[in-house]
Amino acid sequence: MANIRVLSGIRSSGTLHLGNYLGALRNWATLQHQYECYYFIADWHALTTDYADTQVLKEHMLDNMAGFLAAGLDPERCTLFIQSRVPEHAELHLLLSMITPVPWLERVPSYKEQQQQIRDKDLTTFGFLGYPVLQTADIIIYKANYVPVGIDQVPHIEISRDIARRFNHLYQPVFPEPQPLLTETPKVPGLDGRKMSKSYNNAIYLTDAPDEIASKIKVMMTDPARKRRSDPGNPDVCPVFDFHKVYSPAETIALVDHGCRTAEIGCIDCKKMMSMHLLQEMRPVLEKRQELAERPQEVIEVFEEGSKKARETARTTMGEVREAMHLV
Ligand code: TRP
Ligand code: SF4
Repeated sequence: MANIRVLSGIRSSGTLHLGNYLGALRNWATLQHQYECYYFIADWHALTTDYADTQVLKEHMLDNMAGFLAAGLDPERCTLFIQSRVPEHAELHLLLSMITPVPWLERVPSYKEQQQQIRDKDLTTFGFLGYPVLQTADIIIYKANYVPVGIDQVPHIEISRDIARRFNHLYQPVFPEPQPLLTETPKVPGLDGRKMSKSYNNAIYLTDAPDEIASKIKVMMTDPARKRRSDPGNPDVCPVFDFHKVYSPAETIALVDHGCRTAEIGCIDCKKMMSMHLLQEMRPVLEKRQELAERPQEVIEVFEEGSKKARETARTTMGEVREAMHLV
């Protein structure tokens, strides 16, 4: 459906890992065949928390761009761009900030949560409070109908709807109200069972070589209660099993489930099977990622082109916005 627009973005706050792939990129790649899609790297959003350490931004940006392409996002099928390359987002963010009540922003759950969790950074900034306003600008400047996101982002999409509605009501109906497109994303824990994250040092990266991934899996955590080979295990508490559920065929999952509980299979063999299935699906992505590492210039070119295209759409919308607000 070419007239339905989908938009999503990723904060360029680190190297892309399997969690990003399964939680976002893989799904985005499917959607590009069904809708008119815009996908971007939110480098300004990375600054809302990482403003003090901007040295790494460029490296993350290069990694993320190559990761998008390795995951199969195709510039012939979707518009791939960089947020800061479309400065109209900033203009709309400013205008929306005039009509957004501060209490709406203070009520967004991630606002207080992140301030409590991230202790080593001062997140009492204006920019951090305004995170959802910038995200709203990102979305509605393209008049996106659907925003594929994880459940944690739903409050952000809700506030986007509220802000869009308020704008339409105060001035002219310019913006559609965006809807979250909740995709069932499999639970993929990190190698230690906690959430996969760069900061826990428990991630599998799209830049890892296949044998590097196999070695990481070898030392991955299992059911901690299964100490000896002869002890039966519980796959429900084992991160290896979560990966089986994502990558292995149904027969293997059933075999592991039963074999683990009865101690018929050991963790070493179980991990070998999982490794094999994971690499079977991921190998093309990993290989493409290695290839692209050799050709950063081409990768940059794709995003430069995409940003130009995105900018045309954004400019058109800003024309309507200025008109609606009598800023002409
Ligand atoms: N906040 C999103 C995240 O942390 C990233 C993001 C920024 C985004 N702007 C967006 C996602 C617009 C969807 C639409 O994952
Ligand atoms: Fe985990 Fe597999 Fe070992 Fe069971 S057999 S504890 S599922 S690694």
